Amino acid sequence: MAPHTIESNYDLIFAGGGTAACVIAGRLSKADPNLKILILEAGPSTKDKLEHIRPGQYRMHLAPTSKTMQFYKSKPSEHVAGRAVVIPSGRCIGGGSSVNFMLYNRPAASDFDDWQTNFGNKGWGSKDLIPLLQKAETYEVDPTRKTHGSSGPIKASFGANTKMMEMAKQFLEIGPKFEKDRPESEEGNNFGSESVNVFYRMPKYISSAGRRSDTAHHYLYNSESKNLSVFDGTRVKRVIFEGTQAVGVEYVFDKQVYPDAEQTVHTVRASRLVVLSAGAMGSSLILERSGIGAASILGKFGIKQIVDLPGVGKEYDDHPFLITPYVVDANTETTEALSGKDPEQWSKLLRQWDTDGSGLMGGNGVDAAIKMRPREDELEELGPDFKEYWEKIFADKPDKPLFWLSALGGFPGAHSALPPLKFMALGCFLGYPASRGHIHIASNDIYAHPDFDAGFLSHPADVAALVWGYKKGRELIRRMGVYRGPFAPLHPQFPGGSPAAAALAESVPVALDAPKIGYSKEDDEAIATNIRNFVATTWHSLGTCPMKPREQGGVVDTDLNVYGVTGLKIADLSIPPANVNCNTYSATLAIGEKAAIIIANNLGIEGV
Ligand SMILES: Cc1cc2nc3c(=O)[nH]c(=O)nc-3n(C[C@H](O)[C@H](O)[C@H](O)COP(=O)(O)OP(=O)(O)OC[C@H]3O[C@@H](n4cnc5c(N)ncnc54)[C@H](O)[C@@H]3O)c2cc1C
Ligand SMILES: *[C@@H]1O[C@H](CO)[C@@H](O)[C@H](O)[C@H]1NC(C)=O
Repeated sequence: MAPHTIESNYDLIFAGGGTAACVIAGRLSKADPNLKILILEAGPSTKDKLEHIRPGQYRMHLAPTSKTMQFYKSKPSEHVAGRAVVIPSGRCIGGGSSVNFMLYNRPAASDFDDWQTNFGNKGWGSKDLIPLLQKAETYEVDPTRKTHGSSGPIKASFGANTKMMEMAKQFLEIGPKFEKDRPESEEGNNFGSESVNVFYRMPKYISSAGRRSDTAHHYLYNSESKNLSVFDGTRVKRVIFEGTQAVGVEYVFDKQVYPDAEQTVHTVRASRLVVLSAGAMGSSLILERSGIGAASILGKFGIKQIVDLPGVGKEYDDHPFLITPYVVDANTETTEALSGKDPEQWSKLLRQWDTDGSGLMGGNGVDAAIKMRPREDELEELGPDFKEYWEKIFADKPDKPLFWLSALGGFPGAHSALPPLKFMALGCFLGYPASRGHIHIASNDIYAHPDFDAGFLSHPADVAALVWGYKKGRELIRRMGVYRGPFAPLHPQFPGGSPAAAALAESVPVALDAPKIGYSKEDDEAIATNIRNFVATTWHSLGTCPMKPREQGGVVDTDLNVYGVTGLKIADLSIPPANVNCNTYSATLAIGEKAAIIIANNLGIEGV
């Protein structure tokens, strides 16, 4: 039996019901309650489920058996020591916003301006998008702050837990004392250069009542009108066309969500518009199955080409993330309790959260950070591999940091067999990696793994940048009071006798003015090897259907229309034509709000 009864005709169909789709559908449905909207989401419903409301349960969603996450396995690559890195991606109503780590970071103004200026996307500059980020949020930290919002659906705050984790407190305290010209600031998210090279307290996509602020509950479920239909466990196979006009989609009931459902392919028609919002991993695959992409790829699977768009899935982008563990004093509170391995601790956290939304269960364990950019006098330290990339991307854009750096409140412990010690971790992700991967269909089977290469570290500039990140972070962390030494087995294997190797044996903090660790060329190579061994995703997949001119490999135009057809748009994180230095929920909100306005304009709907 079919799990849902879906009508045969709607005005608007969304393929994918993730972060951006919920924003757009919510806005449109509110402005025009007569609009018949259908959302088809492959993953399960999230409505009123505590695991999508209690922030501290974010780690659960990453468990290998998780039903709310899709795990995309990259092909093994020599650039990451032969590993096949796995990129988890949200798979439920609300998408990434319902399972992510809730770190609040906004991009540099020049990131949006680059989309506009370098790729001819009028209306997508910072002057257009910053007001939309304000529209989306209520900044509970201080709603009167410049560039923040005071009445949007998405809440951002420090959580109900106003106590910072000890490692974050010390990071904020020691950082500005140790780092020359890198002071503490109240605001690390103001889009300009004043938010670069400052130590700041991390806001979260968590309300001051201690609840996750996802787009499903805050745009969609709360404004659900009878004409807005959202179905879980429905997986879109492809878009169907009459000539070059998109007229609907084919879908099946997802066998992971509804194991008993028949795998019959159903059709539903859209009289006005089909919107792909299946995320950077999903949208390009739907396009290829629909006959839009490179002939060489479609041909392999006997798919008739409708539009030749070789840019589909061609440039996979993300933020490579290095997480390196350090031991902390045994009395320090860490996020280990959120693993749920200790049932007693877990129920204690639940009880505290039930009372007032506070405690570890109401947070994410990431309380302080810096968006770091090398100063002129530090550029030398990054070496020759990096120089050219610096000139190209950063030199004349002072609002672009090189990476985000933080002392995380625990070590997620993907590496199972850890001794019973307490950990913090240095987290460092690159804002604008030079490396690119790809994602394409590898079969006609819609459940099959795609041909996916994350591309991590295929460009030497990225390795050079992370080597520098490791060093900068290590110097800072070894000055913090909670520090009890690096967790050596997961640090670089420095050649014996080098000062860097000796420092791995540290077990207490060093003085603020202690000499910095010196690194030889061999030491640098050991760090690079460690990075190749451990680099992972920041879960920020993007750019697989870029919004740029068709002759440059673009897939959608400035109004998000797929080139060469009518009635088909893409609206999600597959459209950025260049990376953004932020945790990408914010950029996705901007895209969602912008897409809602564009679609409303196209359809003659007012009041979005
Ligand atoms: C584990 C994790 C942690 C993260 N942490 C943070 C963070 O701390 N801060 C931050 O700012 N950002 C974070 N992000 C990133 C952020 O959440 C994403 O960038 C953002 O949610 C992307 O939104 P989207 O709308 O493009 O895609 P998504 O939200 O991923 O939505 C796409 C949806 O489409 C569905 N779909 C795919 N294919 C099909 C199909 N064929 N048919 C039907 N449905 C389909 C998927 O199931 C999914 O629900 C994190 C992401 C993850 C996964
Ligand atoms: C749904 O749309 C119809 C017109 O198509 C309209 O009459 C009705 O009021 C709408 N329902 C809601 C709940 O807005």
